[in-house]
Amino acid sequence: MAENDAVNDAVNERIRLVVLFGGRSAEHEVSCVTAVHVLEALDPDRYDVLPVGITHEGRWVLAEEAQKLLAGGRPLSLPAALEAAGPEVDPLPALAGGASDLTTVVFPLLHGPFGEDGTVQGMLELAGVPYVGSGVLASALAMDKAKAKEVLAHHGLPQGRWLAVRESAVPRSFDLGWPVFVKPANLGSSVGVSKVAGPEELAAALGLAFSYDEWALVEEAIDGRELECGVLGNREPEASVVGEVVRGREFYGYEDKPVPDEVAAEVRRLALEAFAALRCEGMARVDFFYEETGRGLLLNEVNTIPGFTPISMYPKLWEASGVSYSELVDRLVRLALERRARRAGKIGRPRG
Ligand SMILES: Nc1ncnc2c1ncn2[C@@H]1O[C@H](COP(=O)(O)OP(=O)(O)O)[C@@H](O)[C@H]1O
Ligand SMILES: [Mg+2]
Repeated sequence: MAENDAVNDAVNERIRLVVLFGGRSAEHEVSCVTAVHVLEALDPDRYDVLPVGITHEGRWVLAEEAQKLLAGGRPLSLPAALEAAGPEVDPLPALAGGASDLTTVVFPLLHGPFGEDGTVQGMLELAGVPYVGSGVLASALAMDKAKAKEVLAHHGLPQGRWLAVRESAVPRSFDLGWPVFVKPANLGSSVGVSKVAGPEELAAALGLAFSYDEWALVEEAIDGRELECGVLGNREPEASVVGEVVRGREFYGYEDKPVPDEVAAEVRRLALEAFAALRCEGMARVDFFYEETGRGLLLNEVNTIPGFTPISMYPKLWEASGVSYSELVDRLVRLALERRARRAGKIGRPRG
């Protein structure tokens, strides 16, 4: 792949990889679990790993215990490294590589606000450090479900009917039928999401959503299967096989009910379009509803830092597509370097 050629030299060198985990969001714990898996998947011959945890309160700490265990080649144990946190660190110097001569790459394994939403990505841009995943714009867009829907609609991607509602200006009525789904614009992991059967339940659902964000989304309830697709790459992204989420369980093989080939092909095509429309880079998981009789595929959302434990949908989809967990991590780091090489000199160049 052409993208890889540009960074082969850098990739053959040892890389200092800062794994950034924990964070201030509701998804703190899952992020810690994910970090342990990523740390264990990294080849110590190729990576000099620095685990940096962010506590619930937003303090940045060196996860020294995790580092010691890694250095000794011993398996990490849970509760995750954050529990045995070392000294507090200054975010910018820690990220910029400190005194290390090695090429530094940051892997933000943070879900939700203050991690997946462009804030940390902005800090990494300022620090001048290459990092895994989408940049500021795509991260912020994908995190705001309402703005993402507007952009995706502009690009012609099929979606259900929806309405963005601001806390200060809730409309008296709207025409989406019942039931509807109400959700905060900016969260994940089903936090603050309610299914509302009728008008009498609406105020409570909006109240819950507004406890998380000033903006909420009201959506028609879609009666469909939930299909998901992984995207990996920068300028030449690839789509994974298609997976299905069934009542909390995640399926990849369709033992019960296969997804027709032409539907899977369409999912992959639309996933790549959505990835490009939001200007995602590195990785994303694109989620759809599939109405078997009716409108067919409707895009639900794009996740720029999808669940990333080895049993999460995104790594599973890539495994089923022939990319192992550790290879996936390697490719993501390589893509971070490719983006850095490609963009070097384009930003901040003085105007002549
Ligand atoms: N409009 C909708 N119609 C039907 N089900 C929905 C709708 N919106 C959300 N859901 C259900 O709620 C889950 C979580 O909503 P989602 O928008 O994906 O938010 P999150 O970012 O929390 O994953 C979905 O996976 C789906 O099962
Ligand atoms: Mg979702």
